[in-house]
Amino acid sequence: EETAPNVRPILHYTAKNTWLNDPNGLVWHQGVYHLFYQNNPFDNVWGNMSWGHATSTDLLHWTEHPVAIACDEEEDVFSGSIVVDDGNTSGFGTVENPALVALYTSAFKEGSAHQGTQAQSLAFSTDAGMTWSKYAGNPVLGRGSAHFRDPKVFRHEGPAGSCWVMVAVEAQSQQVVLYRSANLKDWEYLSTFGPANATGGEWECPDLFPLPVDGDPDNVKWVMVVNINPGALAGGSGGQYFVGDFDGVQFTADFDSLVPADADGTTDLRNCLWLDWGRDYYAAVSFSNAPENRRIMIGWMNNWDYANSLPTSPWRSAMSLAREVELATVEGLVRLIQRPALPLDCGEPTRTIKNMEVHNSLVRLPDAVPGSAQLIDAEILPGTARTVAFRLLGASSGSAATVLSFDAITSRLTLDRRNSGNTAFHDKFPSAESAPVELDDGVLRLRVIVDQCSVEVFAQDGRVVLSDLVFPLSGSLGTDVCVEGGTAIVRKLAVTALS
Ligand code: FRU
Repeated sequence: EETAPNVRPILHYTAKNTWLNDPNGLVWHQGVYHLFYQNNPFDNVWGNMSWGHATSTDLLHWTEHPVAIACDEEEDVFSGSIVVDDGNTSGFGTVENPALVALYTSAFKEGSAHQGTQAQSLAFSTDAGMTWSKYAGNPVLGRGSAHFRDPKVFRHEGPAGSCWVMVAVEAQSQQVVLYRSANLKDWEYLSTFGPANATGGEWECPDLFPLPVDGDPDNVKWVMVVNINPGALAGGSGGQYFVGDFDGVQFTADFDSLVPADADGTTDLRNCLWLDWGRDYYAAVSFSNAPENRRIMIGWMNNWDYANSLPTSPWRSAMSLAREVELATVEGLVRLIQRPALPLDCGEPTRTIKNMEVHNSLVRLPDAVPGSAQLIDAEILPGTARTVAFRLLGASSGSAATVLSFDAITSRLTLDRRNSGNTAFHDKFPSAESAPVELDDGVLRLRVIVDQCSVEVFAQDGRVVLSDLVFPLSGSLGTDVCVEGGTAIVRKLAVTALS
């Protein structure tokens, strides 16, 4: 196996010596962000699924803790969520010291009492998330289904009072099922959403949350997040979303969130709403209880197409940067906007450019600094140019690089890792993904975070996001911007090393 131990990201969370997948139980409690996650405590491939645990106060510096909820003879502990049980509805804590309650999927093992099924179970913590006990009455909700999983629970204030609402999936039926409860133990069926839009794989890790549109508290819409694997636009795993309304019982997607099937019964995936147009943003869900009503999401930066083969050790897989999401009106439609939720403006740029005309030529930018992540903020008017392209993590020989290019003719932004370095570890890894981008008064706005083995691109103030893993050859630090076919104006550009 090829290893690249030097590509462990600086800003992105990785487990020290082990495997991780989905973020689980994202919750903010008493000033601390908790990131639990699907973890194999014994290896760096998927298996022995348990909840790993890390904490942070700024979403940037993470501390790894011992495994929080472990698999046992009976069950693997699959994905789920955590709520702060403020009213002590579960009886696991007290009103003065509310319990954190985890809702996770018991994937029952061969030979266990519930073998062959997946059902929802509880665990609780009365020491602010540091140690956990499984509830003796588990599981609390089953459907006799082998594919019922990934519960995301939130408190809902409806006209008839408040209750807990769960969204979970019937993965193979491409359905989100909704339930409600007063005490987190007894659940009542509410409704089903789906199949809808992308249905070419299992539906996993759903989420449902309200957000004001354009910051207007009197215009609140609901966002239903549905991760899908395989069957995402970019191939393999990805996250789609729907904008609509939730009345306490049923989620109804807006007409303009739904993509009608073509005459031959297929859905044009390009018209579905995607959280990310790249290959490596999956199982994304939001924090419970985040301060100031912020809605912050983290995804797993990987894709089941090749997840177990990434050329790293002893760790394997990283989380995405935390993203703050908002709803905004874009060309008359309500759409999700995503921005890094962490403080990135913390270093002095190593290079800034203002109002530079670039005619058919290449501008060298500072190399990526070993041991640092690289932040590139740019405002570029492509003008008469045909393409404006950043070459990132370029090999000194010039032979390899990750290319982020804007094509003025198609108005598409493409992230191309086909020649990014080590792509041979899996035949599904080499890829180029592109997204349509509308310029704002002729301006292309990019915020790019390059962090050892990943490139995340936030374009047009977060209207389009593209995230890809890359495994550059050692010493590949070169960075430049190249204008072809005319003259572009680099209105602003700043390159910063973040360590
Ligand atoms: C998504 C997923 C979930 C499941 C977990 C198991 O990546 O397949 O549906 O709960 O991973 O690790």
